[in-house]
Amino acid sequence: MTEALPSHLLEPLDIIEQELVSRIDDAGAGGELSDGLRDAMRYAVLDGGKRLRPLLVWHVAAAAGGDPQTALPAAAATEFIHAFSLVHDDLPALDDDDLRRGKPTLHVHAGEAMAILAGDALLSLAYDTLARGVQEPALSRDLIADLAAGCAGMITGQVYDTLPDADPRETGLTQLERIHRHKTGALIRAACRMGARFGNTAAIEHADRFGDAIGLMFQAVDDLLDVEQHADHAGKRTGKDADAGKLTYPGLIGVDRTRGEIERLRGEAHTAADRIGPVSESLHELTDYLASRDR
Ligand code: IPE
Ligand code: IPE
Ligand code: MG
Ligand code: MG
Ligand code: MG
Repeated sequence: MTEALPSHLLEPLDIIEQELVSRIDDAGAGGELSDGLRDAMRYAVLDGGKRLRPLLVWHVAAAAGGDPQTALPAAAATEFIHAFSLVHDDLPALDDDDLRRGKPTLHVHAGEAMAILAGDALLSLAYDTLARGVQEPALSRDLIADLAAGCAGMITGQVYDTLPDADPRETGLTQLERIHRHKTGALIRAACRMGARFGNTAAIEHADRFGDAIGLMFQAVDDLLDVEQHADHAGKRTGKDADAGKLTYPGLIGVDRTRGEIERLRGEAHTAADRIGPVSESLHELTDYLASRDR
C-alpha cells in the first residue's frame, strides 16, 4: 500500500524552493554567467522533483537537535548535485531519456552541449553554495567534504551502472548492491550526514547508517517503479531498464524478493533513525513513505 507523506514533513518545501531559486539567481556572482546557461540551470532544478535530499538534510538536522533553517544552503547544495546527476544520467551517452520530471529532458529542450554544460555549472554551484552560504569555516569544510564524497560515489556508481566491470568472483547481488549503493546511495547518505552536522555530532554515524539503508532502499524502489509504473505517472520513461541491460533488483531476484529486500532495508532504517535523536518521528514517516512511494 502506498503511504502518503504527512503534510507536516512537506512544510519546508517552500523555503527550500526559495533557497534554490535565489542561489541560481546569484550563481556566478563575481563572474559572468551566460543567460542561456542560467536558464538551463533553472530548467533542470526548478518546477519538479520530490526534493528528497533537501528534505533529508532538513529533517535529519532537526532530529539531531539542530536548527534546520541554518541547514538550508546544505539542503540546496544536495539538490544541485542531484539535478546535475539527472541531467547527465539522461544524456544519449548514458540512459538516453527524453522525459524527466514530466518535461522534456534538458538535452532535448536545450541541446546536448548546453545540458552537459548546465550539469557542470550545477556541480560548481553546489560547492559555491556551501562555501559562501555556511558561515562557520569548520562546518563549511566538513559539509564540502561530505558532499564531495557523496558526489564522487554517485559518479563512480554511474560508471559501474553504465560501463559494468563485473568481477567474476562477485555474485550478482553483490554487484547490484555495489552499483546501487554508489549511484544513488552515496548522495542520499551524504545528505543525511550533512543534516546531522547541524545537530549533535554523535548523531553523524547513525545518520550515515540511516542514509545507507534508505539509499539502497530508494534505488530498489526506483527499479520496481521502472517495471510497474507508467511514464505519465512517474514523469520519466519506465520499462527501459531491462531493455538497456541494466542490473536491477526485479531483474535479478524478481518482484517478490525485491519487496522483501525493501522491507528488510526499511527495518534497518527505522533502527538507525531511533539512534539519531529522541525526536525522530519524521524520519520514521519518511522511511515508510520512501518504501512505498509510487513515483
Ligand atoms: C531519481 O531520483 C534518480 C535516482 C537516484 C533513482 P528521484 O526519484 O529523487 O528524482 P526527483 O528528484 O524526484 O525527480
Ligand atoms: C540514476 O539511476 C542514478 C543517478 C545518479 C541519477 P536511474 O538511471 O535508475 O535513475 P532514473 O530512473 O533515470 O531516474
Ligand atoms: Mg541511469
Ligand atoms: Mg536513468
Ligand atoms: Mg531508474
